[in-house]
Amino acid sequence: MDRRDFLFRIGITLVSASAYSFGESLKPLIEGKSEKVALLYGTRYGATKDTAMWIARGIGENVDVHNIEEIDFDETLHHYKKFIIGSGIWIDGAHPRLIELLSDHTKMMQSKIIASFIVCGTTGEDEAGKLRIAGYFKKFHQPLQIKPKVNKYFGGRMTIEKLSEKDRKLLDNFYTKVLKKKFENWDRTNPEAAEKFGADLSAAVAT
Ligand SMILES: Cc1cc2nc3c(=O)[nH]c(=O)nc-3n(C[C@H](O)[C@H](O)[C@H](O)COP(=O)(O)O)c2cc1C
Repeated sequence: MDRRDFLFRIGITLVSASAYSFGESLKPLIEGKSEKVALLYGTRYGATKDTAMWIARGIGENVDVHNIEEIDFDETLHHYKKFIIGSGIWIDGAHPRLIELLSDHTKMMQSKIIASFIVCGTTGEDEAGKLRIAGYFKKFHQPLQIKPKVNKYFGGRMTIEKLSEKDRKLLDNFYTKVLKKKFENWDRTNPEAAEKFGADLSAAVAT
């Protein structure tokens, strides 16, 4: 091979290498796949949405946040390769639409979930609380049939004037008759802890 031929061949290799990486970078666009992680949350009174937003702030730009009540499952599953799911906890467990997603698309979600979180009233400060939280996670993950690698609970909030009539009556009864406590507002949300959780996840999101 003479020098000209050699340089010509190197040129072709470089052109095809850069064409290859250009093609690779176009792939997500062509296939309709996003390199971002989808953070899906289920809320009733807003604390889980706020927590999802703080987590997203910690992750940075590689995340899209969606309310589980507002997405089309097939379209969203097709679009993202990675998911974080988070739900509030209300007596009977996590948000029914998230449970539906995990039940109806178990295999796909098993391979795509990188983390999950719950937002609840239980603090986990004592053994009984820790067990209760473990129970919430177990029930949340049941339809998924596996436990995601990373799981974290966050404190939620109670704003009595925001509650539906049904929830207010139920909780009033629960607090005064079962817990024998005054039924009053509380706020255990923690923006810094949620943002740190997001920042800690950002490496898993990028790889
Ligand atoms: C109707 C109702 C039931 C609840 N049940 C539980 C419960 O069983 N365990 C718990 O730890 N927290 C419970 N909580 C507290 C919620 O988890 C907390 O308010 C959380 O912030 C709810 O999320 P959201 O604000 O996104 O709706 C309950 C709250 C409501 C309103």
